[in-house]
Amino acid sequence: MNRRLLITGGAGFIGSNFVHHWCKNYPNDRIVVLDALTYAGNLANLAGLQEHENFRFVQGNICDRSTIDNLLKNENIDTIAHFAAESHVDRSILGPGAFVETNVVGTYTLLEAFRQHWQANYKPANYRFLHVSTDEVYGSLAPNDPPFSETTPYAPNSPYSASKAGSDHLVRAYYHTYQLPTIITNCSNNYGPYQFPEKLIPLMCINTLMGKQLPVYGDGKNVRDWLYVGDHCSALDAVIHHGVAGETYNIGGNNEVENINLVRMLCQLMDELAPNLPVSPAANLITFVKDRPGHDRRYAINANKIKTQLGWAPSVDIEQGLRLTVQWYLHHRDWWQPLLSEEYQAYYHKVYA
Ligand code: NAD
Ligand code: TYD
Repeated sequence: MNRRLLITGGAGFIGSNFVHHWCKNYPNDRIVVLDALTYAGNLANLAGLQEHENFRFVQGNICDRSTIDNLLKNENIDTIAHFAAESHVDRSILGPGAFVETNVVGTYTLLEAFRQHWQANYKPANYRFLHVSTDEVYGSLAPNDPPFSETTPYAPNSPYSASKAGSDHLVRAYYHTYQLPTIITNCSNNYGPYQFPEKLIPLMCINTLMGKQLPVYGDGKNVRDWLYVGDHCSALDAVIHHGVAGETYNIGGNNEVENINLVRMLCQLMDELAPNLPVSPAANLITFVKDRPGHDRRYAINANKIKTQLGWAPSVDIEQGLRLTVQWYLHHRDWWQPLLSEEYQAYYHKVYA
């Protein structure tokens, strides 16, 4: 069966990797990307796809009900892969409003529109609403706590994670109340090509190339569980094709690393791969800075459910993934340089000054 997908947030980091994955693996499926092109959305992430006859890009907001209604109907959509979100914790601390608007109200708007569309088509069993969420909804782990599983209670700590938790609860309620065929995935930290410069790994790569300080929050001992973005995409592929409606699947790569160790690994790769760094060795740029307010100490994912029930496994380990990522940022200056705009500098100044 050929699917007809609406991919929200498909011009962002994970969404665009997912669009490339889908176009390559399922060229006969219809792909419609809906993206507002906020600061984090970038048409350059979708370069080369405009010629693909089954691909269409629409600039629009997920809070705009009539745009969504028209797309669902006119494109005869059967699957929504919902990536669109405000996604950066530090920005949510500076201004939570946009997070509530897009993550909560936007997800609600999509759910309502999809429910009406599904009902108007006599509730086909193969329709899917895939809600792409985060492990941050589970809160923070102590050093010896077991990793998050699908039954870990929600305890979000930042405006970002709280707004994602709110959206997850709405998605869950639409399954239980209306039997809308929804699935939620909660994934750990992603990294790889097309990640916006504000996030830890691209920020460290780009600052190293520019000879700027590498700002590590607090004592640098916060732990994140890293997954290469291509492995997240293959997990979402498995969930769309084989996942059970109403279920939640946790996705993670079993790669827990302290921030300071991750930054040191990046510095070593930069020393090895980048010619003529302005400051060498790159680790000389590491600077401990004021901690992020409410900074979660540790995240870790137990991905046994998706592994055993859907047969998914990650294929890229952290050493390989970081190497691929550093090489990508080295070879794509033309992609990231225009993103260091005045708006970005103003944001950077607010967080790090
Ligand atoms: P991103 O910030 O790179 O991309 C978000 C995209 O959504 C952008 O293209 C932006 O233009 C678009 N967008 C924002 N508001 C919109 C609106 N109102 N209407 C339409 N489009 C809008 O984010 P990302 O890192 O690619 O994350 C994608 C999804 O995955 C998010 O839902 C996020 O919560 C989730 N997630 C991210 C990570 C991670 O490590 N980055 C991990 C787990 C889950
Ligand atoms: P980030 O990439 O913002 O992802 P998240 O906050 O969603 O986990 O940050 C990853 C980790 O790196 C997190 O513990 C915060 C830390 N960090 C720094 O130490 N310095 C920085 O400049 C940034 C952006 C993040």
